[in-house]
Amino acid sequence: MKFLGALVPLALAAKVSAGVAGPTTVPGQFIVEVDTSSHIPGKRSTDAPHAHVLRHLTERGVRFNVGHEYNAPGLFVGASVTLQNASDAQALKDAPGIVAIRPVMLVNAPDPVELHVISGPGDANLPNDTQSTHILTGVDKLHAEGRFGAGIKIGIIDTGVDYTHPSLGGGFGPGFKVASGYDFVGDQYTAGETPVPDADPLDQCNGHGTHVAGIIGADPGNIYNISGVAYKSTLAAYRVFGCSGQVGDDVLVAALLRGVADEQDILTLSIGSASGWTTSTTSVVASRIADSGIIVTVAAGNSGVDGGWWTSSPGNGIDVISVASTDNTYLVLQTASVQGVQSDPIPYYSFWSLGIPGEFPIYATSTNTSVVDDACAELPDSTPDLSNYVTIVRAGSCSFYWKASQLASKGANLILFYDDGVNGFSKIDIGSYNASIIRAADGEWLVSQFAANANITLSFPDAPTSVAYPAGGLVSYYSNYGPTYDMYLKPAVAAPGGYIVSTYPVPMGTWAVLSGTSMATPFIAGSAALLLEAKGRNAGLSRSARDIFQTTAQLVPLDHSKGSILETAAHQGAGLVNVYKAIHSETTVSPGELLLNDTANYKGIQSFTVKNTGKFVKAYTLSHVPAGTALTIANTYKPAAGPVPLSSAQATVRLSTTGFLLLPGQSRQVTAFITPPANVDSTTFPVFSGYINVRSQTEDTHVTYMGLAAALKDAPIFDVSEGTFPRIYELDGTRNYTFNSFDYPILQYRLTSGTPLLRVDLVDPNIKITTTLSQRSAADPGPVFSFPHGKPNTFAQVSIIGALSEADDTTRSAGLDNTNIVQGCYFANHTKWPDYGYYRFLLRGLKITGDLTQEADYESWLSPIVGYFP
Ligand SMILES: *[C@@H]1O[C@H](CO)[C@@H](O)[C@H](O)[C@H]1NC(C)=O
Ligand SMILES: *[C@@H]1O[C@H](CO)[C@@H](O)[C@H](O)[C@H]1NC(C)=O
Ligand SMILES: *[C@@H]1O[C@H](CO)[C@@H](O)[C@H](O)[C@H]1NC(C)=O
Ligand SMILES: *[C@@H]1O[C@H](CO)[C@@H](O)[C@H](O)[C@H]1NC(C)=O
Ligand SMILES: *[C@@H]1O[C@H](CO)[C@@H](O)[C@H](O)[C@H]1NC(C)=O
Ligand SMILES: *[C@@H]1O[C@H](CO)[C@@H](O)[C@H](O)[C@H]1NC(C)=O
Ligand SMILES: *[C@@H]1O[C@H](CO)[C@@H](O)[C@H](O)[C@H]1NC(C)=O
Ligand SMILES: *[C@@H]1O[C@H](CO)[C@@H](O)[C@H](O)[C@H]1NC(C)=O
Ligand SMILES: *[C@@H]1O[C@H](CO)[C@@H](O)[C@H](O)[C@H]1NC(C)=O
Repeated sequence: MKFLGALVPLALAAKVSAGVAGPTTVPGQFIVEVDTSSHIPGKRSTDAPHAHVLRHLTERGVRFNVGHEYNAPGLFVGASVTLQNASDAQALKDAPGIVAIRPVMLVNAPDPVELHVISGPGDANLPNDTQSTHILTGVDKLHAEGRFGAGIKIGIIDTGVDYTHPSLGGGFGPGFKVASGYDFVGDQYTAGETPVPDADPLDQCNGHGTHVAGIIGADPGNIYNISGVAYKSTLAAYRVFGCSGQVGDDVLVAALLRGVADEQDILTLSIGSASGWTTSTTSVVASRIADSGIIVTVAAGNSGVDGGWWTSSPGNGIDVISVASTDNTYLVLQTASVQGVQSDPIPYYSFWSLGIPGEFPIYATSTNTSVVDDACAELPDSTPDLSNYVTIVRAGSCSFYWKASQLASKGANLILFYDDGVNGFSKIDIGSYNASIIRAADGEWLVSQFAANANITLSFPDAPTSVAYPAGGLVSYYSNYGPTYDMYLKPAVAAPGGYIVSTYPVPMGTWAVLSGTSMATPFIAGSAALLLEAKGRNAGLSRSARDIFQTTAQLVPLDHSKGSILETAAHQGAGLVNVYKAIHSETTVSPGELLLNDTANYKGIQSFTVKNTGKFVKAYTLSHVPAGTALTIANTYKPAAGPVPLSSAQATVRLSTTGFLLLPGQSRQVTAFITPPANVDSTTFPVFSGYINVRSQTEDTHVTYMGLAAALKDAPIFDVSEGTFPRIYELDGTRNYTFNSFDYPILQYRLTSGTPLLRVDLVDPNIKITTTLSQRSAADPGPVFSFPHGKPNTFAQVSIIGALSEADDTTRSAGLDNTNIVQGCYFANHTKWPDYGYYRFLLRGLKITGDLTQEADYESWLSPIVGYFP
């Protein structure tokens, strides 16, 4: 039996930046998976499969409450339990017939990256070409063929759906668009709370699931002239979030299995928490469901800024389709009106109007638009009271915030920065100041008007416009980067997720523009419905849906410059979906991805099969198209922040054939010999990837490959850069603790990489151990550390006083400056440490792909002595 997960909440992020959180657990709550096959003593034939396990626990005096019971043989059998006494975790672990125990994890609804509720039918925020995402992906052509997903059932696991929305059918139950569903939680729920389920999945307080539902199913003929990708499909709404907050993955497992029981063809989840591993309960269950022949689409996550190896669960499920987001080609921005001088309105970078009534004359802090440090210094005494002006300032040199504070000291409360060509015309963070950014040319023009003493004023009505978005069509900056630590390709494929107009709960505005991988995911679910409708539902087709979408996708460049390298597959997957091609392609290529693994486990010889499913003979030519190599670790210990830097270093690909003819129905196997790029620094953990194009006269398909030009076993686990961590956080400079009430030490560390096994123990202060990481001021530790027999968890043969925490498949530290902590004065079994003792912390992390029985495969660190110094 493998014991998965922490006994106590382990990775408490001391500082969590906005929208970024590693997974956390719910204390005392576990998901138990039981063995349904083997003979287990005490098992009765009439028992529910998990009953004997629970009975065994009861007989041993363990008191617990059962939350969800799972009985889907072949997929998942077990239960979620809450221990009444957390110190009984060991008894749970020792119960016979248990395959796995995993702590209940918290999962987020990905926050939309942008949100704008459309004000009404005349709202000019609505992109004029509302079908642009359909045109980009060929959905419009499938609609023209009369394919709308009729007869396909899609289960949406989300915040519920406002089915009263006129474009979502206006009702609930058989015969309606939203034909079924369930509310697993109730309005007040957040993870850890007791769910209050009922049969009605109505969402009129969150909105996320309603927006998702519209991307799949919004009926056309609405005032905004939009439609869902598969608007004749039949929806089920499984509500797993309350009005706000997180969900425990015990609830997600229940919802996933309910979707299976209700015979959904497709399950879609715009849900996830960063993990990096394929092993969480929801990932495992979702993958098994996908393997059983139900298409499962899951958001890749919106934490692309956190860099590589930051894949999200349940999107990590090996056989699910993890979905990346690409940006729309248009942005909706506000405009300022110009009075006194003939001029077009001036766009400024904001969804919402600055909303300040009145017409304001302009004041420029410099009439020289080349001055780089405009308004960085205190403004001269000659500056007028700026409170009645719009102040025009060049961006650059010092921060926007700093400039705004200089200006505010002269009374300014309305500021337009103009792009200096360095920051770019993009969103700026300026706190509570009434400020925004305009384009360089508009700023220079305004300054020239000011210099010429023109009678010019600006006003700020609610006047949105759409402007071409320079990054349109590229992978969204917020879309998560893979791969997983076990070298699976996540995300699999991309879909439009930026600036999407869709339905919103009626009481919350009825329509909204949202951005995120949450929006891209239902796009693939809807696309999958069109695929099943076109080709006929069957489990084999569902299992190959990912291959089909991947091999027919459109490759996305890193940027729009001429000759740009391709974006890494670790960010775009196999490319932007082309649904029309996926359905009409007369060539199948499988598998869709070649996983080469790291250099220590390298599988450089790969094969794939090309089949001509058309009616005519086809001549194929094969070629290699490399993508940029992602340098995922910067400065040895820091994950490179997104956008992850790409090198043009490329793998060498030799093919067993570069061209052949196939008769209708014929297929051919091709072998690829792929060598990692040589000219890269392995300490940057370069993820290389690319595509093997398979072209016929009329078609263009590809296979995606991905590998690591380094051995993951060499990846640093603990961040020891700057000599700061790991450490005992010493508030007052002493390590004097009584271990009474709140007088305890805090162990603080950063994880550069996730680790398969992370363990913290309390040890005798005189222990003799050789640790791999130097302990500042540690005195001569002798060599006694050993891992004698190599059964799981027996590596702790070092004489310890007690385990503080242990976790499998730990996520690396979130963000770029967050640390993890272990604090308190309780052992993992919730027994308190003896008061007034002397101890050290022993911190150990198993290297990725390391052998948990081998001492040499761990990084370890021993803390200075902590204890009571009278
Ligand atoms: C929890 O279990 C431990 C060990 O069996 C016991 O010492 C302790 O009293 C129990 N606590 C409660 C609240 O029952
Ligand atoms: C509305 O959508 C249809 C296709 O669904 C398109 O032909 C038409 O031009 C659109 N109208 C507007 C005003 O965008
Ligand atoms: C300046 O413009 C305002 C508004 O357009 C106008 O009312 C005013 O008469 C103008 N003043 C001069 C001196 O042109
Ligand atoms: C404008 O500022 C730039 C940069 O400080 C300087 O080089 C240039 O001489 C200035 N021009 C005038 C006309 O003052
Ligand atoms: C923003 O503008 C409003 C309305 O004029 C004003 O009340 C507020 O103080 C301004 N805020 C700042 C930070 O200047
Ligand atoms: C849509 O088109 C109309 C007419 O051309 C235009 O007035 C409006 O500004 C456009 N809206 C957007 C968001 O571009
Ligand atoms: C890569 O190799 C490791 C170590 O053998 C293995 O655990 C992992 O599953 C492999 N990944 C893939 C995608 O095959
Ligand atoms: C809890 O763990 C500590 C340290 O290993 C041990 O001394 C203590 O006996 C354990 N308590 C229980 C109730 O198992
Ligand atoms: C350690 O803390 C205890 C209790 O706060 C105090 O009495 C004692 O003097 C401290 N010892 C040192 C060396 O600071």
